[in-house]
Amino acid sequence: MESQNIEQVASNLLKAQSHVWNHMFNFINSMSLKCVVDLGIPDIIHNYGKPIPLSKLISSLSIHPSKNHGIHRLMRIMTHSGFFSQKNVIGNELEIEYMLTDASKLLLKDNPMSVAPYVHAMVNPVMMNPWYQFSTWLKNDDTNTFETTHGMSTWEYAARDSEINNLFNESMANDTRLVSDLLVEKCKGVFNEVESLVDVGGGTGTMAKTLVKSFPQMECIVFDLPHVVDGLQGSEKLRYVGGDMFKEIPPADAILLKWILHDWNDEQCLKILKNCKDAISKKGKEGKVVIIDMVLDCEKGDNNESVETQLFFDMLMMALLTGKERNEKEWMKLISLAGFNDYKITPILGLRSMIEIYP
Ligand SMILES: C[S@@+](CC[C@H](N)C(=O)[O-])C[C@H]1O[C@@H](n2cnc3c(N)ncnc32)[C@H](O)[C@@H]1O
Repeated sequence: MESQNIEQVASNLLKAQSHVWNHMFNFINSMSLKCVVDLGIPDIIHNYGKPIPLSKLISSLSIHPSKNHGIHRLMRIMTHSGFFSQKNVIGNELEIEYMLTDASKLLLKDNPMSVAPYVHAMVNPVMMNPWYQFSTWLKNDDTNTFETTHGMSTWEYAARDSEINNLFNESMANDTRLVSDLLVEKCKGVFNEVESLVDVGGGTGTMAKTLVKSFPQMECIVFDLPHVVDGLQGSEKLRYVGGDMFKEIPPADAILLKWILHDWNDEQCLKILKNCKDAISKKGKEGKVVIIDMVLDCEKGDNNESVETQLFFDMLMMALLTGKERNEKEWMKLISLAGFNDYKITPILGLRSMIEIYP
């Protein structure tokens, strides 16, 4: 009985130790992902047109011959994480053949929905270094760890560093390509009658372009910071306007806020939402604001991976910006404090929902 107890205690301890190790080494997943993207491995496999043997993959890469063994090991961990699948695993390792999975297809450079620019942006030292300041930031009164590290906000940094600015804008555009068709398909009724729409924080205009193409009656303004929209060419139905959503938002029947409010704290969101309310009231007819953001439901805990993604985003918003991910109760409070009377949540975009709000 006693030895059984000792074994149980030891087994629990070893499990706990491995749990801590896995968390401590989670960065190896991020860095292996970065390496695979840097080396262009998904594109090499894609261009090969059939399952690629390890020997062929190695010869396609500019790898120093003394590092050839590293590719098998890199591919092994990335296959374990679901980025590749493999066959011919028994026998000579050089004959193992790799194939893309849905996840690595999203890393292809020419995929309009590619997540590769987001990987480049998020694991860039500019974005990673602030995490080292997390506990320091909790003890001081800086706005976020980004400011503690770089002495300015993320948006100010993007305005000065064109590489980060372009990577970030491209990441957002690719994300929008991934969800915009679904949004248009599933939410026709939301936009059918809208004649004018301002996409606030609309980046380089990917969503607005889809909307004006899908709804012929609609004219759109893409409203974003000057460093994002300056020099972009509009069209008959689409205009780019540089400005600050905390000051004033151009009038329209509807305002779109995709992935905006989670960047900001409640006080800042109230300011944005009040400016949205002013903007739709100026048109003289009943307008609406359409928010695309997560509605946190980690209490349910039914899908562990989704809960982790939502919690990652919540931490990201806290560390690099001033925002947070909100649950339905928090959304309701915000919406009502901003003077809106009605809302409707439609969970249509995987982890994100569409929240329509009405004055
Ligand atoms: C997370 S991105 C979302 C971009 C786009 N809506 C999308 O989902 O693809 C946030 C956007 O808000 C813009 N932004 C930040 N501060 C702003 C401000 N004060 N006024 C207008 N836009 C702002 C950023 O430049 C960026 O394009």
